[in-house]
Amino acid sequence: MRKINIAQTDLEVSEIALGIMRMNSLSNEEAERVIETALDSGINYFDHADIYGGGESERIFGEAFSELDTSRDSVYIQSKTGIIPGKMYDFSKEHIIQSVEGSLTRLKTDYLDALLLHRPDTLVEPEEVAEAFEQLERQGKVRFFGVSNHNPMQIELLKKNVRQPLVFNQLQMSVSHHPMIDAGFNVNRSNELSIDRDGSILDYCRLNDITIQPWSPFQAGNDKQGILFDHSDYEQLNKVLYRLAEEYNVSREAIAIAWLLRHPANMQPIIGSMNPGRIVSSTQASSLRLSREEWYELYRSGGFQLP
Ligand SMILES: NC(=O)c1ccc[n+]([C@@H]2O[C@H](COP(=O)([O-])OP(=O)(O)OC[C@H]3O[C@@H](n4cnc5c(N)ncnc54)[C@H](OP(=O)(O)O)[C@@H]3O)[C@@H](O)[C@H]2O)c1
Repeated sequence: MRKINIAQTDLEVSEIALGIMRMNSLSNEEAERVIETALDSGINYFDHADIYGGGESERIFGEAFSELDTSRDSVYIQSKTGIIPGKMYDFSKEHIIQSVEGSLTRLKTDYLDALLLHRPDTLVEPEEVAEAFEQLERQGKVRFFGVSNHNPMQIELLKKNVRQPLVFNQLQMSVSHHPMIDAGFNVNRSNELSIDRDGSILDYCRLNDITIQPWSPFQAGNDKQGILFDHSDYEQLNKVLYRLAEEYNVSREAIAIAWLLRHPANMQPIIGSMNPGRIVSSTQASSLRLSREEWYELYRSGGFQLP
């Protein structure tokens, strides 16, 4: 597994991370196998959130990890805060601190390598976020900070008071869901794809050395249900995925991840599979590099025409 340096930090981590959102459906033994498989495949970065499975995903991971013969400092554990499911977002100091304490207890660890603000809270008071981050950093409970699903101005607003660099932005992205790329191809046109809905977040992150972590890299996205593989709306894309998978002698999951890794923004995709075989086959992405022609062919085969 190739490693990437996370800009603005001293972190050198696997270029593919494992998301733990779906771990709540596993037994402890199954969870141990998933974590061991990820580690054996070179994944050393794990993404959590306080709300996944109502906290169960973090708890099961914490239990399972503590059974393994793996030291805490050989892996990187990230969690997220700020969503009260179905009710509201909460970036208050009190909630951020409480949420981190809960994550640390469930994960059976003393510190998080990174903490992300999960979804923008319009009632955010950046001063409070800054106080929470200061306290968590001072106490050694969080090493690095970031955001998720944020646009550039929302990040700028936080930066008004937050002293620590915001080093990650987690955003939905797959080979079939990439609005942050579409708008860049369609500047000054009057079609649907030309609408810049995210404030040019891709270029903003590149300019500001913020590492994008594409989430749900296998989902069809664009408000469509299900995963992109064998999706009836993406027949041509699937043909190209199959063909390239054969040519490179890897899985189609690997090609879908390789498409994200080929972008020079140095993204760190977060896969969410809880199937050991699929985790291994997805990490094959790290052994290949798509050509420019192949990258664009995959883009176009999803039905996205270049102007
Ligand atoms: N920041 C945010 O707002 C946000 C939102 C959502 C997720 N996330 C993060 O991103 C991570 C990944 O999200 P995700 O789980 O939606 O990602 P994903 O990797 O796109 O999807 C994983 C799901 O797709 C299934 N799958 C993948 N390939 C398949 C195939 N060929 N055939 C059948 N099923 C297949 C997996 O099943 P198997 O388990 O059977 O492989 C699993 O249920 C999460 O764990 C979480 O950490 C963040």
